[in-house]
Amino acid sequence: MHIGLLTGGGDCPGLNAVIRAVTLALIRECGARVTGIERGFLGLCTKASRPLDEAAVRGILAEGGTILGTHNRADPFRYFGAGGADVSAAALSYARDDLGLDALVAIGGDGTMVIAERFARLGLPVVGVPKTIDNDLPGTDRTFGFDSAVAVVSEALDRLATTARSHGRVMIAETMGRDAGWIALEGGLAGGADMILLPEMPFSLDAVAAFCRQRESREGHTLICIAEGAHAATESVSVREILHDSPGRVRLGGVGNWLQEELAPLLAGEVRSTLLGHVQRGGSPTAYDRVLATRFGYHAAQLVRSGAFGRMVVLKGDDCGSISLTEAAGGRRLVPPDHALLSTARGLGVAFGQASLL
Ligand code: F6P
Repeated sequence: MHIGLLTGGGDCPGLNAVIRAVTLALIRECGARVTGIERGFLGLCTKASRPLDEAAVRGILAEGGTILGTHNRADPFRYFGAGGADVSAAALSYARDDLGLDALVAIGGDGTMVIAERFARLGLPVVGVPKTIDNDLPGTDRTFGFDSAVAVVSEALDRLATTARSHGRVMIAETMGRDAGWIALEGGLAGGADMILLPEMPFSLDAVAAFCRQRESREGHTLICIAEGAHAATESVSVREILHDSPGRVRLGGVGNWLQEELAPLLAGEVRSTLLGHVQRGGSPTAYDRVLATRFGYHAAQLVRSGAFGRMVVLKGDDCGSISLTEAAGGRRLVPPDHALLSTARGLGVAFGQASLL
């Protein structure tokens, strides 16, 4: 067997742990040959790949990012390097004919799974492995990268809390999480945020200000954790900027600054905001993510071994399983309004910026 492997979309801690697990399992249990495709699906368009053997994946378990590189806009069905043309036939030919791949393991987020599913429909045997710090892929309870991002947010809030207490300030931390607020929710809980603002729950600026004023007269400070995709109920969208190098041309970022500017004139105390950005995507994976990524990679190799293609590895509870790529591709797993973490947080006095606070 000759298996291709690629990492697509945004990078995150744990990608190398998956590469290592898939490669070692395929070599050791299946006697397979493994080829790494460079920079996600871009490598299929530019014919860039390299052999992966046991030596190539030695010592990468704890290394952040991906030794294969990745790309967040490379789509052979609409290739930016060919004026948006569909070059999928050439990409497929490179995989099947030039490289002689029997199957492809695609590690990535929603965008990667959508492309992988299209190649599966063209007849390329594909197995998907879910990756995103956003933890918003349908069908799996967790994606690797998420726990590492939550750890970054938690530590950042610990640090911001010392300044909040020392100065009697409102300190705002903006997390990643375009559509789903999982990072802000779990990071905010872990970091002891007094208020958590999620994309799924548009907030009332007046309610946020009233909450902060109450705390000014009591605790003297407030810690707010806000997801980049969060927005006030009066604003139709979150703060965004048009960048020509980003998927769909729109990137989010800056809602923490926006909230700081809106809150400052409404409060007696000072307000400061910190945009955590790509700090949440870098560095070494947590122990949890190393184990989850290793489990995902090994399970992907078992799917290849058993010929169960067109499927994506998932975690259900504490068990690894798989769902069809069709089911996985194109959706978002948002924080449901009745999620237990929301009631737990509310029970401890954490606010979510709803008008009911008024
Ligand atoms: O999807 C993961 C993610 O990190 C989002 O949370 C974030 O908005 C986006 O990727 C950033 O993408 P880029 O690395 O292209 O700026």
